[in-house]
Amino acid sequence: MPQCKAAILTGFTLEQVGFAAAAWPMRAAEELRSALIFRALARAARVAKVPEPWAERFAAMVLNEVGHARLCAEVDSRLDARGPRYDARPVRDRLAGLGDPMGRVTALLLVEAAMRETISMALFRAGRRAATEPLTRAALGAIVGDEVRHQRNGWAAMTSLWPSLSGRQREALQIEATNGFGAFEQQVAAPA
Ligand SMILES: [Fe+2]
Ligand SMILES: [Fe+2]
Repeated sequence: MPQCKAAILTGFTLEQVGFAAAAWPMRAAEELRSALIFRALARAARVAKVPEPWAERFAAMVLNEVGHARLCAEVDSRLDARGPRYDARPVRDRLAGLGDPMGRVTALLLVEAAMRETISMALFRAGRRAATEPLTRAALGAIVGDEVRHQRNGWAAMTSLWPSLSGRQREALQIEATNGFGAFEQQVAAPA
């Protein structure tokens, strides 16, 4: 993670700084959401006895996401210290709808790790490319490297589990994927 120095805001309008400042608390909350989701994924993988290294890798992703949440909150504090608002209720609702441990593992893997982290990686990458303010660029660059690995873990673990899934489990995953796209539209695309 980059050393959080002061943001260099000369040359930016107040409106631009305000717009950027509003994004960081949202990013921090989103990163904490990912940490909670991957914690549930790591636990479910252990309960469902998914072969290692997966549970271990999911647990490492939790630590990365907590680091991202801290970094986003830190950048926010350099811009206007509005402070992120963390709300675990949507995560609890998300997890409550998932069934047996293997169903939970596959749903979280496909939708949250593979699909969502792929979108997240693309957004962070696009943000870093467009960013000219050095602190912003460093923070986005530090996060994107982890997101590349997270989505790769998601797709690789999904690929390794897929052959062992029954027809019913695969059908359930199709429904999860469809619902996932709807959720991304609301939770990721609209705020972005
Ligand atoms: Fe992240
Ligand atoms: Fe991630």
